[in-house]
Amino acid sequence: MPSIAVLGSFNMDLVVAAERLPEPGRTVLGRSFHRGPGGKGSNQAIAARRLGAEVSFIGAVGDDEFGAAARRLLAAEGVDISGLASVDRPTGVALIVVDDRGENQIAVAPGANEAVTPALVEEQAPAIAGADVLLAQLETPLDAFLAAAAAARTGGTTVILNPAPAAPLPDRVWSAVDVLTPNQHEMSGLFGGGETEPAGSPGRISGPEVIMTKGAEGAVWYRGGAARSYPAVPVDAVDTTGAGDAFNAGLAVGMAEQGIEAGIVLGLRAGAFAVTRIGVLDGLAARAELDRAFPPPPKAAS
Ligand code: RIB
Repeated sequence: MPSIAVLGSFNMDLVVAAERLPEPGRTVLGRSFHRGPGGKGSNQAIAARRLGAEVSFIGAVGDDEFGAAARRLLAAEGVDISGLASVDRPTGVALIVVDDRGENQIAVAPGANEAVTPALVEEQAPAIAGADVLLAQLETPLDAFLAAAAAARTGGTTVILNPAPAAPLPDRVWSAVDVLTPNQHEMSGLFGGGETEPAGSPGRISGPEVIMTKGAEGAVWYRGGAARSYPAVPVDAVDTTGAGDAFNAGLAVGMAEQGIEAGIVLGLRAGAFAVTRIGVLDGLAARAELDRAFPPPPKAAS
């Protein structure tokens, strides 16, 4: 069974479904509200677990109602939460609006997620060094990520960084990463270019392997000056929230099982499933459910 250590956030998601997203200074009347667990780290941990990996989660929540809900959920999913600290800050919260096309707008109050420290991560160094993959995002502090990546190096653990939400990355982060997984917007911020043609030429991409996710257009793997495209599984999207998390979890699990291409394909299938469900949690497929909904492509004859 692949083993994945996830370093990242937990947020309680407060979600309003509305016909359209509000513009600055405007109020829109929504149709419905739901509250559910989220946070890129927790979503990716649960998604990887449901896809069949052994998962440990390193993060922080407050000593409050949302923090207790996080502990209950992750433990019930079978995620190892010995690296989940309780801190004297409120649990992270995300305010989300989802429109009729499934697009979203998210504002996060990180709270306890900001209290994930290198010291907390170092306590979990054996779990990180013993895992096949370390999977992290940018909703927890960068110095904690660097501590986790250092632990990963000691064990030969592959480091995947999902650079979301978009932020500049210092040089020491680039050298700590094996695989970077920006979406188009994050790719433009990191490598230049516009959002419609985000990456510039593949020759500009150096350092870690880069896999750019493009929503309904699939993903592109940049390697050694070349770019290879992988189509998305065609679906009717109802809610894109958490699709990137499902992709990253699938990538991590598939990579640990059979290498990077298998990871991209599993990630795209998991991401397609995610957008067909309203809310994040229901969109994180169990492996058997995913195989039924979107069967794996046949293996090429050797
Ligand atoms: O990627 C989706 C997640 O982003 C949501 O669950 C929300 O909590 C924000 O972290």
